Amino acid sequence: MRAPVTAQEAVNVQVRGLRKSYAGQPVLKGIDLDVSRGETFVIMGPSGSGKSVLMKHIIGLEVPDEGEILIEGDSIQKPGVMDKYRLAIVFQSGALLNSLTVGENVGLYLTEHRLKKPDEIDRIVTEKLDFLGLKGVKDRSPSEMSGGMKKRIAIARALVIEPQLILYDEPTSELDPLMTVTIGEEILNLSRRTHVTSIVVTHDRDLAFGVADRIAMMYDGRLIAVGTPEEIRHSPDPVVQRFLKAEFKVENENI
Ligand SMILES: Nc1ncnc2c1ncn2[C@@H]1O[C@H](COP(=O)(O)OP(=O)(O)O)[C@@H](O)[C@H]1O
Ligand SMILES: [Mg+2]
Repeated sequence: MRAPVTAQEAVNVQVRGLRKSYAGQPVLKGIDLDVSRGETFVIMGPSGSGKSVLMKHIIGLEVPDEGEILIEGDSIQKPGVMDKYRLAIVFQSGALLNSLTVGENVGLYLTEHRLKKPDEIDRIVTEKLDFLGLKGVKDRSPSEMSGGMKKRIAIARALVIEPQLILYDEPTSELDPLMTVTIGEEILNLSRRTHVTSIVVTHDRDLAFGVADRIAMMYDGRLIAVGTPEEIRHSPDPVVQRFLKAEFKVENENI
């Protein structure tokens, strides 16, 4: 089995001059971003600011109108580059299939791509579920799991490829404050134990400050401030300060 990602294997990510419009409406208005190897980088901002769209570009699910995304200096638009690196995404919804067991969900990628023998997949699945503190749920149905467990199962599923880069989209949405802390701890735990580069997209300020090495504040399609949690906390930018004081009207605060 592949060993966890070492510090040397973690990848860096650069975003250069990224612009994207949908039906003539600009959503990303010129994004530049540098994420270092092994860093936990949080993109924080209110709903509708373009966080998920940015994330989809970073993982190659959307194509930029202008600009580019580089992994270790390679443009992801170049043929073969996306196959060279192991990237994983934990979607907001978790996206677990209720027709499969928890274990089958976690191992799905390996099974579908016939990457391992069944007994080895079983071993990897058990190990990843254990890592997330989910013993004994392998043969159960996702429909029996709580919201927090579903999030952790989705993280376990992302880990089966030993990713060099992992992206989380709103990993604490729909969770209570206690479970938000737990998921934050899982993200930290993972980054400490495997050196994976992590990009976390969230409108949850507590999560952002709980896990980040650095935070970028996204607002209206732009990154208006980037810095350490301390630098962001003391940012002179009035929009950042309004967001930190929760003065934004966020329609989908819990979504
Ligand atoms: N595929 C799409 N087609 C049209 N508009 C989109 C699409 N994806 C996102 N948008 C719009 O882009 C804006 C930013 O969306 P999103 O990145 O999901 O925000 P966030 O994740 O920060 O809440 C929203 O106004 C949204 O409606
Ligand atoms: Mg979003």
